[in-house]
Amino acid sequence: MRDEIRRITEEEMARQRGFMRQVRFHPDRPHTYFIVTYGCQMNAHDSETLAGMLEDMGMTPAAERTQADIVLHNTCCIRDNAERKALGNVTWLKEIKRERPELMIGVCGCMIQQEEMAKKLLRQYPFIDLAFGTGNLYRMPEYLLEALENKERVIRVDREESTIAEGLPVRRESAIKAYINVMYGCNNYCSYCIVPYVRGRERSRRTEDVLLEAETLVKSGVKEIMLLGQNVNSYGLDSEEGVSFAQLLHRVSQTGIERIRFMTSHPKDLSDELIAEMASNPAIAPHLHLPVQSGNDRILHEMNRRYTVEHYLERVQALRRALPQIGLTTDLIVAFPGETEAEFQDTLSLVRQVRYDSAYTFIYSPRKGTRAAEMPGQIDPAVASERIERLIAVQEGITGEILAGMRGSVAQVLVEGASRRSAKQLTGKSGRNINVNFAGNEADIGKIIPVRITGAGSNTLRGEKEE
Ligand code: SAH
Ligand code: SF4
Ligand code: F3S
Repeated sequence: MRDEIRRITEEEMARQRGFMRQVRFHPDRPHTYFIVTYGCQMNAHDSETLAGMLEDMGMTPAAERTQADIVLHNTCCIRDNAERKALGNVTWLKEIKRERPELMIGVCGCMIQQEEMAKKLLRQYPFIDLAFGTGNLYRMPEYLLEALENKERVIRVDREESTIAEGLPVRRESAIKAYINVMYGCNNYCSYCIVPYVRGRERSRRTEDVLLEAETLVKSGVKEIMLLGQNVNSYGLDSEEGVSFAQLLHRVSQTGIERIRFMTSHPKDLSDELIAEMASNPAIAPHLHLPVQSGNDRILHEMNRRYTVEHYLERVQALRRALPQIGLTTDLIVAFPGETEAEFQDTLSLVRQVRYDSAYTFIYSPRKGTRAAEMPGQIDPAVASERIERLIAVQEGITGEILAGMRGSVAQVLVEGASRRSAKQLTGKSGRNINVNFAGNEADIGKIIPVRITGAGSNTLRGEKEE
């Protein structure tokens, strides 16, 4: 067992607010900030918290990172390319710092939570001024003040990853859609995955804290809430409150929020109770992201996913029986150590059988410290590329067919803003989480409106507003 879960006390949070005030009045404080975010929704949401704290310290966002007084890199280490991208961008900023030595460069997030990476950054990246991990993000004000006072770099990455901190300021990206964390960490230890090592043990927020945040958002006009957790179906299992994830969903919907989404569901824990709640609650969007990873039982076993293809397909069937209109999406890994051509083809078959709206496809990337990184039979990169291309081609075909089949139907679209192509075109997401573009006016932004689908691109729909 690794670290124990630690709930950060109100006293400690008050101490951090004190540091925020001190930074605000510090003569050398940075005035503008820029945050570069990598990785998943959890990281995107953590960046919103970082932005909230920086703004409480009196800073404003910079238009470009080259103009900012402080640049924070909120990193991801899920695959090698995520790590390389972050390091590349940090190194690139070094040149800017040469011209403007007062620029503060910070690195935080999952990548830094790995002991070896923290050591490497200390040694090889002396121009980094500030670094902290995932569990002590709430202490950023204290670290920033320390760096300003002592005029020296502050690297604070400790084993403290299993914390819950409430009451931090958040500056949300959107006024229409908002993320709420319901739980942190992961206990599943899928053999390929680094997340349990960098995000700590599973821990649920108190139901009242989640509901309070949801109520505040509804009052401020937010239309869609996405509940976040690495495995939301484990919500509450670590607490004595006895509130299941399905019950939590139900209670969040009672706040009057118009649309609810959630991520991510582990197939092994997808309960009948959750399916029933989804089917009976009109606020819950008819979409489920249900990562399958592989369509072969031996590979699933080696991945430590703890379900079989049969179980997965049974869950899909139960979902579709209860919600015939549900859209499913998934994550898939190709070239897991030892994966044979036949085993890969099982993944293709499963994809053809389930018919996902879309899928995130990844080439297996060995992560140091995980079990799979030590497994024999690591696959040749050329074979891996060839497999992922075949998989993408199959999925693209299916996505195309599903989208084309939606012509003539009416989608409920939460309008988010003008489309990138033209100001007269609005864009938003359907309940099934598919992008829909249509002609409309600004007054529709922030509303859920019916749109008749008239055409389909490779991954977006076109439509006309229903009058
Ligand atoms: N908690 C979520 C997913 C988190 S990571 C879940 O369990 O579904 C998002 C996706 O990244 C995973 O679903 C998996 O498909 C992929 N992934 C994780 N580790 C990986 C690795 N080492 N190599 C390639 N893909 C990986
Ligand atoms: Fe990683 Fe598995 Fe946890 Fe998802 S469930 S975060 S893939 S260990
Ligand atoms: Fe990456 Fe950390 Fe998310 S490793 S995928 S940012 S939990």
